[in-house]
Amino acid sequence: MKRMLLPAMWNLRLEDILPADFGIVGFSRSEFSDEDFRADMRKAVDEFSRNGPAKDPLWSDFAKHISYVPGSFNDVAAFHKLREQLERNDRELGTGGNRLFYLSTPPSVFSQIVDMLEQSGLGPSANKTGWTRIIIEKPFGTDLDSARRLQADVSKVFPERQIYRIDHYLGKEPVQDIMALRFANVIFEPIWNRRYIDSVQITAAETVGVESRGGYYESSGALRDMIQNHVMNLLALVAMEPPVSSDADSIRDEKYKVLRAVRPIERARVLLDTARGQYDAGSIAGKPVPGYREEPNVRPDSNTETYAAVKLSIDNWRWADVPFYLRSGKRLARKNSEIAIRFRSIPHRLFGEAGDALDNNVLVMKIQPEEGVSLRFNAKVPGPKMHIRSVSMDFNYGTGFGVVSAPAYERLIGDAMRGDATLFTRWDAVEAAWETVMPVLDRWQNSTDESFPNYSAGSQGPPSSDRMLAADNREWRKI
Ligand code: BG6
Repeated sequence: MKRMLLPAMWNLRLEDILPADFGIVGFSRSEFSDEDFRADMRKAVDEFSRNGPAKDPLWSDFAKHISYVPGSFNDVAAFHKLREQLERNDRELGTGGNRLFYLSTPPSVFSQIVDMLEQSGLGPSANKTGWTRIIIEKPFGTDLDSARRLQADVSKVFPERQIYRIDHYLGKEPVQDIMALRFANVIFEPIWNRRYIDSVQITAAETVGVESRGGYYESSGALRDMIQNHVMNLLALVAMEPPVSSDADSIRDEKYKVLRAVRPIERARVLLDTARGQYDAGSIAGKPVPGYREEPNVRPDSNTETYAAVKLSIDNWRWADVPFYLRSGKRLARKNSEIAIRFRSIPHRLFGEAGDALDNNVLVMKIQPEEGVSLRFNAKVPGPKMHIRSVSMDFNYGTGFGVVSAPAYERLIGDAMRGDATLFTRWDAVEAAWETVMPVLDRWQNSTDESFPNYSAGSQGPPSSDRMLAADNREWRKI
């Protein structure tokens, strides 16, 4: 609420994206008066808004739209008070019965909250004047079964088109640009297939450790925390077929179709086609940092992975035999999220002196911290001889468009208010992604074949990950 949600609402207000008739109601166990809550939210904006501290008179006007209802998540009377407050907002702030619930809570209480909303008359079926939507943060379940149970609970109250499962990666500008690059240009799509593409690498590397989230992360690990959602969503955007139109469901239909074509990793292949790691102490940007097992709320003999790599195959005409290598980890050498499409080698070599290496063409979609697209190709080095060297053509969003991308949360909350679900994950895709990672989770949970810690903070990850690619005569791109 403090770090992301309220600053996002404030920035949407500054940009005039927030409708004039709005109300924000905080609901949690802490006892606050409206005034105290507003003051707390102002502090949050001062600290976390990308537009700097809140300024009057705009803030005092904004603050009039903020109120607070204390209550616990199992107290139906408190939810009735919440309903009364929302009805007051309809009368006094002109919110017209439109409701967007944002569950910024531990996942363990999602089902209970949805049930309470229904019991207190806040569910969509009781709303006769406006719309009711719900935003649910990841993780949506902790495995396939729990995700299905959660879906059963939520869908008892909310129809699918009113459920907005937020995956903040989808709100990042360069991620939205994947579809533009593919489908707003004519030159990429004809070569976007197994005839021209050798392999795809998707990386989401971080330099941060688990920070203060050891408690959560201990029961999660990198595969659940990043691969099952963010990275699988990137894979779907890169590999899907062109949608028939740009509406939310046409796009989400294609994403689902390609996720369904991902071949489940056979149990016997899990150890060959995956790698996992846990960071040891090391140094990041010249500063010593502790190992994962020394982090707060982490067991000293923890077996939780902070690095996960998976090789996937997609069983369809476009991608047969093209490996997709996915990896994500904490405390790696650099923060770097990117998708690299590596093209096949040229069929016949004409140029280049004997010592020249002719690199394969690579198209890199850079997601963060750099945002852009770069294409590596071979060119003649000026001079009398036919020396060939790899060069790169780069596009950078910041300099290309002269703007700084808005944070993903702002875009996504704005979309949910407008009722545009394109950048939210539909249940069928969540389920397909769980189906893909389950054999790996099961195998990893029941084996101690990798002894942790196995990579130093600040490195490229565990050696087993390099071995996984070496077995295919390939290498990871440097992080
Ligand atoms: C979150 C994960 O979903 O994404 C975190 O729970 C991770 O563990 C974060 O650090 C990464 O997001 P970003 O935008 O910094 O790449």
